[in-house]
Amino acid sequence: MSHGVRELHEVRRASGWKQRLRRWLEPPVPFVRNPAEPTSTRDFPMGRWNLFVGGAGSETPGFVNVDLFLLPGVDVAADAHDLPFADGVFTRIECDAVLEHTKDPARVMRELERVLAPGGHLHVVTPFCHPYHEYPEDYCRFTIAALREMAGGMQVIASGWRTGPTATFLIVVLEYAKMLLPWRAWRVMAHGVLGWLLFPLRYLDLILLKRPESRRLGNHCYVWYRKP
Ligand SMILES: C[S@@+](CC[C@H](N)C(=O)[O-])C[C@H]1O[C@@H](n2cnc3c(N)ncnc32)[C@H](O)[C@@H]1O
Repeated sequence: MSHGVRELHEVRRASGWKQRLRRWLEPPVPFVRNPAEPTSTRDFPMGRWNLFVGGAGSETPGFVNVDLFLLPGVDVAADAHDLPFADGVFTRIECDAVLEHTKDPARVMRELERVLAPGGHLHVVTPFCHPYHEYPEDYCRFTIAALREMAGGMQVIASGWRTGPTATFLIVVLEYAKMLLPWRAWRVMAHGVLGWLLFPLRYLDLILLKRPESRRLGNHCYVWYRKP
């Protein structure tokens, strides 16, 4: 399994002309982030020690980056089910698009609560309507209600949608179109052409995310927790 994740990161970092051309032609992402999602360090301050879960291949300044794989950017290779840290050490924890890849998300949530400092904040983001993606495996999806239920002894400070129904629609259309094509070169072409043609639709989410019905087809949701 680790092979797939390592390969993906190698392709992303490759500097050959084919990879560079592909990155240059890559269409914009098919989603916009909900501007109502709170992220400011004034509301959720950083401390001396902060934890970023699942940041392989990313720079995470100010955070200890923990991931299953010791890839570029990772400070500590560990499984989020059993974090190698003492209780209550981290002031802020980011766990973005990781819980769906864990066998026992409830146990991971208890680990994150354990290592969070009293008064500290945990930010969890998970997919709801999103295609299957192995990273290294894909086990489940979450609603906002499910994430709120997983608070344990923490308070829920804020919750909502990060990406909305149009993101879901565009991601599914791109995946579906590629599925119909037998050759990889055609799939790459379809991803590029459709991606560039359709991406402007992503801005519809700035309207739809204001409507409660958007929860029926929401793409990713978030919850901010505080440990009392
Ligand atoms: C979809 S990626 C997250 C991407 C990143 N958070 C971002 O927003 O760009 C999932 C990451 O979680 C890591 N991961 C999966 N299961 C894990 C676990 N049990 N413990 C720690 N990291 C894990 C994977 O190796 C991968 O790097």
